[in-house]
Amino acid sequence: MGFKNKVAISKHALRLAFTDKLSWLLFAWLLGAQWTYGQELNPLEGDPRAARVGGSIFRAQCATCHGADAKGIDSIDAPDLTLVYAGTGTSDESVFDKIRNGVPGSIMPAHTFPDTEIWMLVSYLRSIGVSGISSAVDGNPDLGRTLFSNNCAACHRKGNEGGALGPNLSKITEVRSLEALISSIRNPSFSISRGYKPVSITTSDSQQIQGVIKREDAFSIQIMDTNQFLRAFSKMSLKGLEYEEQSWMPVFSESLLSDTELRNIISFLQSSL
Ligand code: HEC
Ligand code: HEC
Repeated sequence: MGFKNKVAISKHALRLAFTDKLSWLLFAWLLGAQWTYGQELNPLEGDPRAARVGGSIFRAQCATCHGADAKGIDSIDAPDLTLVYAGTGTSDESVFDKIRNGVPGSIMPAHTFPDTEIWMLVSYLRSIGVSGISSAVDGNPDLGRTLFSNNCAACHRKGNEGGALGPNLSKITEVRSLEALISSIRNPSFSISRGYKPVSITTSDSQQIQGVIKREDAFSIQIMDTNQFLRAFSKMSLKGLEYEEQSWMPVFSESLLSDTELRNIISFLQSSL
């Protein structure tokens, strides 16, 4: 329906507005429809069906790049969309705009779906979005800092310090729940972060190299080895290539790191220390 039509109908509705109840409702609805047009709030917010239908549209239209669970797939460099709302205030409108217009200069395409369907996609992304730890974790960040330097900093950064074999943890408490963080520390191999999949390589001169996969295609592989050097190999030149199931991160059981110590580390990660 074009804009002209809408105006014509609402004038008509206005004339009848107070003559019968149905037209009054129609008028109110049109007024509402015009008002929501172009505003930044999701008109479907709070409607659980919107997120469900949005999920189906997502799996049909977006999963090839973003993965069926929206967490991304290894072979394509498209972001984990469960993180879109993590951290600082992303608005529904900006997510709407990215879906509508795409991201220029990237493979993220523009989409010509009707507005309602895009809002359903926005509702879906909202519903699966992670929001990190919302309240302060009960722990001692000063003690946590020492524990972090001794046990974690060889592989992880916080601020400007630390290694790079594992992910930078400076903002991790904004994008992971407390349960998810505890699980990654107690049981690292349960869910291995994208960009950190463990691999073992045997070179043509029988050198054994272990590391995490940074990039890979049919012909080549780039890794960060466990000494934290970036290295690239042509697959044809390798004697062996093994995708490992176990993360290179050690398992921190309670005998190595008590629950109290774990909370101290998490409260350090949450702090600005
Ligand atoms: C051909 C691959 C491809 C398809 C299909 C695709 N995307 Fe994307 N999308 C990308 C890439 C790549 C980016 C990252 C663009 C950039 O910022 O460089 C992206 C970015 C986004 C962003 C912005 C993320 C952010 O952190 O700001 C949103 C939201 C998004 N996509 C949603 C969708 C939805 C919803 C669909 C389906 C309707 C979809 N995409 C289909 C590849 C794709
Ligand atoms: C020997 C290197 C190494 C050490 C030491 C190490 N990690 Fe890790 N860590 C990794 C690697 C590699 C990954 C990515 C693979 C995975 O998810 O297991 C990782 C993943 C993580 C994740 C998940 C991040 C995400 O994006 O969800 C958390 C949280 C984490 N480590 C915390 C810690 C803490 C806390 C310590 C110290 C108590 C620690 N790590 C010690 C290598 C290490």
